[in-house]
Amino acid sequence: MRIVLLGPPGAGKGTQAVQLAERFEVPHVSTGDILRFVVAWQTDIGQRAKSYMDEGELVPDDLVLELLKIRLAQEDARAGFVMDGFPRTLPQAESLDDILSEIGHKIDGVLYLEVPDELIVLRLSARASCPTCGRTYNLHASPPKDDMKCDRDGSPLITRDDDRPEVILQRLGVFKRQTHPLIKYYEDRGILRTVQGAGSKDEVLERMVGELDDMAGRSS
Ligand code: AP5
Repeated sequence: MRIVLLGPPGAGKGTQAVQLAERFEVPHVSTGDILRFVVAWQTDIGQRAKSYMDEGELVPDDLVLELLKIRLAQEDARAGFVMDGFPRTLPQAESLDDILSEIGHKIDGVLYLEVPDELIVLRLSARASCPTCGRTYNLHASPPKDDMKCDRDGSPLITRDDDRPEVILQRLGVFKRQTHPLIKYYEDRGILRTVQGAGSKDEVLERMVGELDDMAGRSS
């Protein structure tokens, strides 16, 4: 199972990718998480990536592709993945097709999570995440039980540098200009389904699973 989740910032890609990856027993591959990991190590590559991420701009394709290839070459990704945050540009989408076709595979389905801008701004301004286990919280809809501490491991929760209001708007603009064209790219290949991302996390998950089941049924 090789699934790509497309959607604007704050659509719920990361939240749903974790659930889908568990359900289909494949890894969750997030270029945002990989980049934040590289940034935390304060390497030259990390410093270069951070300068783009802090401004809400896309990190250059060559750098992201280099990191993605390393991740996809790992053993656990051979049987499939749920990809979140990649591709984000047409050259990235074409490169992903090339990488997969070299090993005789292709993307099975692309789910586009559609969410209104107002909800995105609300969600991202209320996001906190655990630096230890990566779990994210919506401080309004599903806050942690103990004030700003992770329910799972008790770590103090953090907010992301790129969730400042002015950077959220910038990221939304970047999505519309650079990533939205991928919807047509995958529609033309007949592998895209649109899922409404408003509603509870469980409701959205069931909609996504329903679309994936439907696609699998049609292709068998
Ligand atoms: P990345 O980390 O990929 O960020 P993003 O795409 O902007 O998406 P987010 O992580 O903000 O949102 P999400 O859709 O995953 O939503 P989430 O589930 O967290 O990328 C960050 C940066 O890295 C980019 O700006 C760029 O600079 C760089 N980058 C990454 N990949 C790149 C690439 N391929 N090329 C170039 N540059 C790249 O949910 C958000 C909040 O809402 C959470 O608090 C969550 O708890 C809550 N929530 C989710 N679903 C629901 C629901 N149904 N109801 C209520 N609350 C919900």
